[in-house]
Amino acid sequence: MKSFIQNIPKAELHLHIEGTFEPELMFKIAKRNQIDIPFKTIEEVKKAYTFDCLQDFLDIYYQGASVLIKEKDFYDLTYSYFQKSAIQNVRHVEIMFDPQTHTERGVSFETVINGISKACYDAKKNYGITSFLIMSFLRHLTEEEAFITLNQSIPFKDKIKAVGLDSSEKGNPPSKFKNVFKAAVKEGYIPIAHAGEEGDAGYIWEALDVLGVQRIDHGNNALQDLNLVKEIIKRDIALTVCPLSNTALQVVKNMKNHPLKKMMELGLKVTINSDDPAYFGGHLNQNYIEIQRALDLTKKDLINLAKNSFKYSFLDKNIKNKHLEELNQL
Ligand code: ADE
Ligand code: ZN
Repeated sequence: MKSFIQNIPKAELHLHIEGTFEPELMFKIAKRNQIDIPFKTIEEVKKAYTFDCLQDFLDIYYQGASVLIKEKDFYDLTYSYFQKSAIQNVRHVEIMFDPQTHTERGVSFETVINGISKACYDAKKNYGITSFLIMSFLRHLTEEEAFITLNQSIPFKDKIKAVGLDSSEKGNPPSKFKNVFKAAVKEGYIPIAHAGEEGDAGYIWEALDVLGVQRIDHGNNALQDLNLVKEIIKRDIALTVCPLSNTALQVVKNMKNHPLKKMMELGLKVTINSDDPAYFGGHLNQNYIEIQRALDLTKKDLINLAKNSFKYSFLDKNIKNKHLEELNQL
C-alpha cells in the first residue's frame, strides 16, 4: 500500500505554510536572524509537540513563526515544503498563509507574499508543481484587523486565489467575519473557512450560510447534524480532512475512530491533507498511509480521495480533467 500511495498523483488543499516549519530550518533561520528560541535541541522541540487541544498547538505554532523576518525566510520555508511535496508525487497545492502572524510583528505584507510567491514560481519551474495561495484571517483577532489585512492584500491580488479563516475556533464563529468575507468576495477572492474542527455543527452552518464558503477545512463535526450533511452534499462542497492533525490535537482520540470512512459512506466529498505537517508527525503521504491502515481503506477509496483533491481544487476545469484522466489509468 505504501508504494501504491506514493505513486498516486495528488493535490494538497489544506496546508498552512507556517505549519511546515521543521525544527532544523527553524534553528537555521533563528540563528541567521539572531533570534533566541526557547529550545536548544531538535529533541527538545519535538518533546514540546504534544498537544491537548488546538490552542495548545497554536501557542507553539505562533512562537515558531516568530523567527521569520526576511523575504528569504519565507522563500526557504515554502521551497522546503515543495521539495518534500515533489518526492510524494504531489502535483498541485493550495497553500494557506497567515499574514497577521507576521504583520503583527512588524514584518510587511509584501515581504511575506513575495517570499512565498517566489518559491511557488520556482517550484513550478523546477518540479512542475502548480499552486495557489489562500490568505487566512486569524479568527481570534477582530474583524477590523481582518479588514486591514484585506486592504494590504489588494496590491498583490493577482497572487492570491482565496481567503480562509483559521486559528482558535471556539468562541470565534464565522459570523464574526461576515463583512470582511463579503468585501473579500467582492474583490474576487474565493471564500473558504475552517469549521467544525473543535466548533460544533453550528459553526459549519454559519460558514455556509453567512460566509458562503466554497470549501470547508476539517468539517468533522458535520456528522453531528444529518441535515447539515445533506446540505453540504447538495451544495457539492468538499471537506478537507486532516487525519494526523485530528489525532495530534485530540479532535479524534484514536485513528481507528476517525470519521473519514463514515463521511465517505454518507456521500460527503472529502480530501486528505496534512494541515501542519512539521507539528503533527507526517506529510501528505503519511496521512494517506495512516488513515488507510486504521480504517482499512481500499485502493479504490484512495484513488477516490486523490480524485477529490483535484476535483475540489480551484484549478481550471481542463487542468483538473488532465489530472483526473491520469488517475483513471491507475
Ligand atoms: N492554524 C494552523 N493550523 C490550524 C488548525 N488545524 N486549525 C485552526 N487554525 C490553524
Ligand atoms: Zn488548518
